[in-house]
Amino acid sequence: MNNQNITGKKDSEPLPWHLQGNWAPVKKELTESNLTIKGEIPRGLNGLYVRNGANPRSGWSDHWFFGNGMLHGIKFEEGKVTYKNRYVKTPYYDKDLDVISSFGDLKASSANTHIIKHAGKLLALEEAHLPWEVNEELETLGVFNYSGKLNGAMTAHPRICPETGELLFFAYSLVTEPYLTYYRVSSEGELIQTEPIEIPRPVMMHDWNITRNHVIFMDLPIVSDMDLAITTGSPFGFKPECGARLGVMPRKGTGTDIRWFEIDPCYVFHTFNAHEQENKIILHVSRQKEAMVGGLKDIYGGDSTVARLWRWTIDLDNGTVQEEQLDDAPSDFPRIDDRKIGIKAEHGYCVQFDTSTDSLTIGKYLYKYNLTTGSRQSHDLGNNVAGGEPVFIPQEPYSSEDKGWIMSLVHEREERKSKLVIIDSQNFESPPVAEIYLPQRVPYGAHGSWMPAN
Ligand SMILES: [Fe+2]
Repeated sequence: MNNQNITGKKDSEPLPWHLQGNWAPVKKELTESNLTIKGEIPRGLNGLYVRNGANPRSGWSDHWFFGNGMLHGIKFEEGKVTYKNRYVKTPYYDKDLDVISSFGDLKASSANTHIIKHAGKLLALEEAHLPWEVNEELETLGVFNYSGKLNGAMTAHPRICPETGELLFFAYSLVTEPYLTYYRVSSEGELIQTEPIEIPRPVMMHDWNITRNHVIFMDLPIVSDMDLAITTGSPFGFKPECGARLGVMPRKGTGTDIRWFEIDPCYVFHTFNAHEQENKIILHVSRQKEAMVGGLKDIYGGDSTVARLWRWTIDLDNGTVQEEQLDDAPSDFPRIDDRKIGIKAEHGYCVQFDTSTDSLTIGKYLYKYNLTTGSRQSHDLGNNVAGGEPVFIPQEPYSSEDKGWIMSLVHEREERKSKLVIIDSQNFESPPVAEIYLPQRVPYGAHGSWMPAN
């Protein structure tokens, strides 16, 4: 990361896919209330939607995963809408860091993957480092380590239990043991449990799941292997021969309480949800046959490296896992109604991927699944439009599941314009109820959250 220039071009190399088109970073930090809105903002929609994503400040990054985090916020106040974007100003902002050596510095986060709010704190996350705290104005406050109690990274996919208010998360380490650690934070924001877990080898663990009584880890074979780093320049490789396992642990248990269940080798970047049903645990996941087959740089390696909706049913009595593909449509970035995390969710939402191209291409459909039947509804965003992670917003705090809105940051490729679409979740295939055109292009990014006012 030390031979960048601001034009985005590294010496004579052609731009990699993750710096082309709408993957390319934007340069300005804006605050703008004078927005073009088509349709009508739903009455009573008050709060802040924030989405995080990689936006290399220098114009160059070696990998999509490595650019500086940039937050794009759209705030709703009694019908008034304001857009604001800000970098997460970690040490990575002022000084380009060598990505590999930054693994050893827990503060040196790009903070580019997700943003969550728990116990009043907004935390910008990236899985190899500590969280960075920002405020609702998206200004960076500093590194966040639970008063010194957190001495490892935080996954970019922690889960907030809707029933207890606890924040549950894990960290993986590619370098030193323990290769996996589990953490539990009280609803008041105190780190109350740190639990090392033994796994056979370091693996990249991007997401996981919780249920009412358990947490479920995915030990899948993107393996850290220093021999690979020497031969391919990447410390990661997909090694199906290492096998794949799901680890079920009681939420308040210890590393010795974990039970491992073998599954077919595969990779899952993201999961929809999990729930318990008698003595079974049912997970819905975005499962792909393989991942990073050409090393870390090749996040896209054709159709087999894009996910589909699968269901895993873990039978805790007989120790088996039933694996079922529920749909053949390529998709990822799954979300549910967050009030159903860990309990049975009837619906899941995700974005389609186009596997007919030779680089990672986000499609023009948002999907809504009935997770029980696997049936799918499609929201067509229009020709030459690419979707983004769909986030569900309940109409009222206690309204039933799926009664609310889907928000997604989408991109009109021809016009090079980005907009936030708001879709009535119960009329999912109908045109959006509102489209908010943003004052600048929003590069394709990762994950976001809705933070209701009050
Ligand atoms: Fe993710």
